[in-house]
Amino acid sequence: MSNQSEAKVAIAAPVAAKPVAAEAVAPIPNGLKFLFGGLAGMGATCIVQPLDLVKTRMQISGAGGGKKEYRNSFHCIQTVVKNEGPLGLYRGIGAALLRQATYTTGRLGVYTYLVDIFQTKFQRSPGVVDSMAMGVIAGACGAFIGTPAEVALIRMASDGRLPPAERRNYTNVVNALTRIVREEGVTALWRGSIPTMGRAMVVNMTQLASYSQFKTYFKNGPLKMEEGIALHFCASMLSGLLTTITSMPLDIAKTRIQNMKTAEGAKPEYRGTVDVLMKVARQEGVLALWKGFTPYFCRLGPHTVLTFIFLEQMNQAYRDYAKRNSEKSSGL
Ligand SMILES: *[C@@H]1O[C@H](CO)[C@@H](O)[C@H](O)[C@H]1NC(C)=O
Ligand SMILES: *[C@@H]1O[C@H](CO)[C@@H](O)[C@H](O)[C@H]1NC(C)=O
Repeated sequence: MSNQSEAKVAIAAPVAAKPVAAEAVAPIPNGLKFLFGGLAGMGATCIVQPLDLVKTRMQISGAGGGKKEYRNSFHCIQTVVKNEGPLGLYRGIGAALLRQATYTTGRLGVYTYLVDIFQTKFQRSPGVVDSMAMGVIAGACGAFIGTPAEVALIRMASDGRLPPAERRNYTNVVNALTRIVREEGVTALWRGSIPTMGRAMVVNMTQLASYSQFKTYFKNGPLKMEEGIALHFCASMLSGLLTTITSMPLDIAKTRIQNMKTAEGAKPEYRGTVDVLMKVARQEGVLALWKGFTPYFCRLGPHTVLTFIFLEQMNQAYRDYAKRNSEKSSGL
């Protein structure tokens, strides 16, 4: 899923930021920062969306101890392309973009708000631990705000695997959201919000806690690596691996709960997060909690790097624009 990338962007930023002469940098207004952050994440989402779809399909495959539809991720891609065409891999892209937009804006908005409150209350800037705590809370709030788009996404991405008569046939994300409200009530939009928020928090805390630990180990441990790209790469790979392992069980709980059919009084298959975890472990084996591991892990790195690249492009474009404008107004 998309959400773990943000923390890594924050970590990667100091590495790649070039030192620029102070006077040349026009500070980017807060509103634009939100916009650029959101757009960069959306651009990256467009490129990695197929991996997300494969992850979702793998997590649903074999639910309830039934027959597994896909043997592995490659088989899943093959089957989707064969049965639904290559564009089948992009089902639900509108919902994925909406999720990225709502999650990012929500998270940044809440974070800025919390920092403001902190500064007014304590009359100082937040320290490392304060920022971390506020980041984790903001991540959970962002996840809550992004849940409706997430429900639409999971359902649209999984629809194509069903026989036509059982499909939901949402035509696009707006249609999906309005139909969910009409058919199942407003609260259905927040189905699975608890594991969604839990996942955001686990991702964030694992990343914050493990990245610097791994970095220290590679630097001072037996490898004695130098500060630089290679070190950052190794530390983020391992931190990403750990994040994937810790957050996947919550992710499968979220996917299964959001995909449940409850319209027309059908009895819901799962009662909640713990129920999903127990049932999956019992019926499909404990390792099934990590279904979709490969696409989930493969998506992390590229999503982070692409978000960062897009963000840098937009920041640069803004700086160029601001510079041209100031030259004009100073009569050059
Ligand atoms: C995690 O928290 C940090 C702040 O400590 C924040 O910058 C980052 O965006 C958060 N990431 C997620 C995925 O919530
Ligand atoms: C979706 O479309 C198929 C036919 O393509 C139909 O059989 C099915 O009932 C539709 N599903 C819903 C929920 O309307």
